[in-house]
Amino acid sequence: MKLTLKIWRQAGPGKAGKMETYPIDGISPDMSFLEMLDVLNNKLVTEGQEPVAFDHDCREGICGACSLYINGEAHGPDRGVTTCQLHMRKFKDGDTIYIEPWRAKAFPVIKDLVVDRGAFDRIMAAGGFVSVNTSGNTLDANSIPIPKDDADKAFDAATCIGCGACVASCKNSSAMLFVSAKVSQLALLPQGRVEAQRRVLNMVEQMDKEGFGNCTNTGACEVECPKGISLENIARMNREYIKAGLLSES
Ligand code: SF4
Ligand code: FES
Repeated sequence: MKLTLKIWRQAGPGKAGKMETYPIDGISPDMSFLEMLDVLNNKLVTEGQEPVAFDHDCREGICGACSLYINGEAHGPDRGVTTCQLHMRKFKDGDTIYIEPWRAKAFPVIKDLVVDRGAFDRIMAAGGFVSVNTSGNTLDANSIPIPKDDADKAFDAATCIGCGACVASCKNSSAMLFVSAKVSQLALLPQGRVEAQRRVLNMVEQMDKEGFGNCTNTGACEVECPKGISLENIARMNREYIKAGLLSES
């Protein structure tokens, strides 16, 4: 395949960036999108040019690092996949492909296609965990019966990989789908109920501090989410938040 790549290049945080054009040849339709970028970078290095910085780790849809905006869509044209799971057979020979980093105030660009998603880590640190008594008297989690429906919904919410596609595809740069998945995975389980009230209040407070926008129910996040995280989680988080707010006032 012969392609024309239009890629966002930015030397560093706060620096002016621009789209640069790179023609590329010899791309197999069986290559992954990131392998195609590897080919480009090999070529750039061989020619003495600066390679394109992009984020990746697992390359199998688990870590959420490979966050790219491809032809105006988070993780590209396929559905239910991350950028690293996207294959070049989704494009046609001769195509022009636009590749940009996530665009959101709370995800500043570090370099080229790499953004700082530390805001998600700080939201998790604000409450996305359960505190476990490790005194030696800890109850085995498997000894607590959990309704199958709740366990399934908690597991579905837990499949969120923190990639940030929901933020990038939202016109308000809202992080509600991410935060609601992280609240829901614990709110649905008895182990998560103990800290449920302060968890949701603290995580939402941190989300607002980080500068993410508000949710206006457009649903773009659910469409672009590679893990199919449902908007139901946002409704659950809103219920948890209202309940926690009322309890903290009483
Ligand atoms: S909710 Fe979906 S799109 Fe958002 S961070 Fe989690 S996996 Fe990525
Ligand atoms: S590199 Fe880990 S999800 Fe893509």
